Amino acid sequence: EEDKDEILIGFSQSINHDIWRKSMEHSMEIEAALHPNVKLKIYNANRKSKKQIKDIERFIEEKVDAIIVSPFESDSIIPVIEKANAKGIPVIVVDRKVNTSNYMAYIGADNVEVGRIAGRHIVSLSKGKAKVIEVRGAYYTSPGLERSLGFKEIVEQYSGIKVVRLDAYKDELPKEAFLKALTENPDVDYVFAYNDVIAYQAYLVAKSKKLEKKIKIIGVDGINGPYGGIQLVKDGILKATVLYLTGGSEAVKLALKVINKEIVPKKNNLNTVLIDSLNAEIMSNQFDKITIQQSDIEEQQHIIKNQEEKYASQSNLLKLLIIL
Ligand code: FRU
Repeated sequence: EEDKDEILIGFSQSINHDIWRKSMEHSMEIEAALHPNVKLKIYNANRKSKKQIKDIERFIEEKVDAIIVSPFESDSIIPVIEKANAKGIPVIVVDRKVNTSNYMAYIGADNVEVGRIAGRHIVSLSKGKAKVIEVRGAYYTSPGLERSLGFKEIVEQYSGIKVVRLDAYKDELPKEAFLKALTENPDVDYVFAYNDVIAYQAYLVAKSKKLEKKIKIIGVDGINGPYGGIQLVKDGILKATVLYLTGGSEAVKLALKVINKEIVPKKNNLNTVLIDSLNAEIMSNQFDKITIQQSDIEEQQHIIKNQEEKYASQSNLLKLLIIL
């Protein structure tokens, strides 16, 4: 299926050091490793749009076969994405959107729906009567904006639901503002946080005020494994989380299809679902199975590589013997 000898895929990652991003990169690496002729190169912009623009420029200069971009902001990278596109390099956008249509394909879950799911869960648990603190993500990113819009769309329909809105800064809980909101609203019974990291920070603050039993916290992401959202639900720290898949392996698959001149849909949707105490165990079992399969694959790749190296040195020896 792959007719080119060496395929180079550049991935421009936006944010460093969080488990959602790490899991995204890991799934990309595994997918790439399935194809011995595919090389995946990752640059991380570390929350700086300027750096992300430079990184994508570099991929253009390096003449990569495709660029996968996980945008930091949705606007500032428009020109460089359009430039890559104009040069005929297919661009696959993952997770956050870019405000241009000049790219090959997008893959990600519906963040408006993510917000709605959280809203509906609070409505159903509270029978339409609740006081909620919502910690919003950055409005200049599509997940930040859209999760909040979806949440609002649902809770607005219930006059018994009151929402106090706070803004996260750099994916962190605004601790002072959160403490203040807790003091000013002693009747708060729910927190909807933009992601599980912020949700956990909210839990720690609630705990320090001895409110952790009273306040039910809902996050987003649902990464499997230690410190991930699924574990937090299992431990009763979060009431629920909304699954937000990273799309890592799917993005690499899309890139490879495009490189092989296959036609792919412009918009590729990832599913989302509520994870609470009822299904957390099932979800983590399912994801564990995938992880085990992935490490099997990694192990196999390792064995194959060793064999190749052994074979190479044996045939070198052979050549040497023939010469002698
Ligand atoms: C991680 C993260 C996730 C979130 C995604 C949205 O860096 O903040 O928590 O779901 O990015 O872009």
